[in-house]
Amino acid sequence: MIPLSVPNLSGNEWKYVKDCLDTNWVSSVGSYVNKMEEVSASFSNVAKAIATSNGTSALHISLLLAGVQQGDLVILPNITFVAPANVIKYMGADAVLMDVYEDTWELNVDLLQKFLEQECIDKDGACYHKATGRKIPVIVPVHVLGNMVDMGKLVPLAEKHHIKVVEDATESLGSTYNGQPAGSFGIFGCLSYNGNKIITTGGGGMILTNDLALAKKAKHLTTQAKTEGIEYYHDEVGYNYRMVNILAAMGVAQMEQLPGFIARKKEINKLYNEGLKNVIGFKPQVVTENTDPNCWLYTAVFDRSKELLKHLDGHGVQTRPFWVPMNQLPAFSSDIYYNEGDVAGRIYSQCLSLPCSSNITDEEIAEVISKIKDFYD
Ligand SMILES: Cc1ncc(COP(=O)(O)O)c(C=O)c1O
Repeated sequence: MIPLSVPNLSGNEWKYVKDCLDTNWVSSVGSYVNKMEEVSASFSNVAKAIATSNGTSALHISLLLAGVQQGDLVILPNITFVAPANVIKYMGADAVLMDVYEDTWELNVDLLQKFLEQECIDKDGACYHKATGRKIPVIVPVHVLGNMVDMGKLVPLAEKHHIKVVEDATESLGSTYNGQPAGSFGIFGCLSYNGNKIITTGGGGMILTNDLALAKKAKHLTTQAKTEGIEYYHDEVGYNYRMVNILAAMGVAQMEQLPGFIARKKEINKLYNEGLKNVIGFKPQVVTENTDPNCWLYTAVFDRSKELLKHLDGHGVQTRPFWVPMNQLPAFSSDIYYNEGDVAGRIYSQCLSLPCSSNITDEEIAEVISKIKDFYD
């Protein structure tokens, strides 16, 4: 089977993990955790990075510190992996699911503007949804598949309406908009290092921020809210959301290889786009203007995508359908879905992700392309 997206552990992973085992620094503090935070902050050009147990916990702490409270509404694209939608529910809040653009599949910022201008009011320096009277303190732009939301339009719009931006940059480590790294635009940006991401720690995440006071609070909350010193004094409700040293060791080794992984992902993207361009019905994801994407997970629109998935599965090629849009999931079906014709629903039914691990060979890509062509022939 040619796998969809698997780890590429060809650097110093063994060496650094062995170092943890040899020195007995295997748990939730250690030099690799510090190093992983330093290299991550520097790579994404932010003041501070706080390592977490996964991307979901990074989002949870970020929404908490951004001030989301029970009963609030949080704006989220309707096309996303489910994690940020779940986190909104952890907070006792609900989502305003914003439809996406037909070509880039990213949050539709023009629709967002319409929603904010027509459906919301500013009151005492905050944004409220007119129909329900509920506060909208935060928007979570998700940079889907390594492409990016149009941050040049979104950030000023959010500022104008007193809405804080928490970026879900879990899929877009290394992507930039106007040269600025994904995850560095909002008060927080969140990364994930699960097994299929562009780099992996097995499981892990990162909170990025330029606000040093918030960074300190985030570290505090992710470490059981324990105050400094030897006493077990916890000054508020905290969480055990730490990344352990062994996994951070893997992460440091992966970060050393990240530029190479991004370069390979871009080559893979090019090979598929070239190889599939004459396939009828094939449409690749259009890159948002001013964006340099990391090309994390190669996904495209195909005719009869569900049948193609079955065909490829039967011929040794692992693929994945796109995420079911949030409004179609039971937990979020009664949340507000703002759209002008359910673009998310259409894209979902047509998209397929193809094998694109950074260690896939050119021959394997050629094989996938040929099997796709066989299906249509
Ligand atoms: C868009 C998005 N948000 C959040 C997450 C959650 O990250 P994790 O699996 O590390 O909790 C992921 C990845 O799984 C994701 O793709």
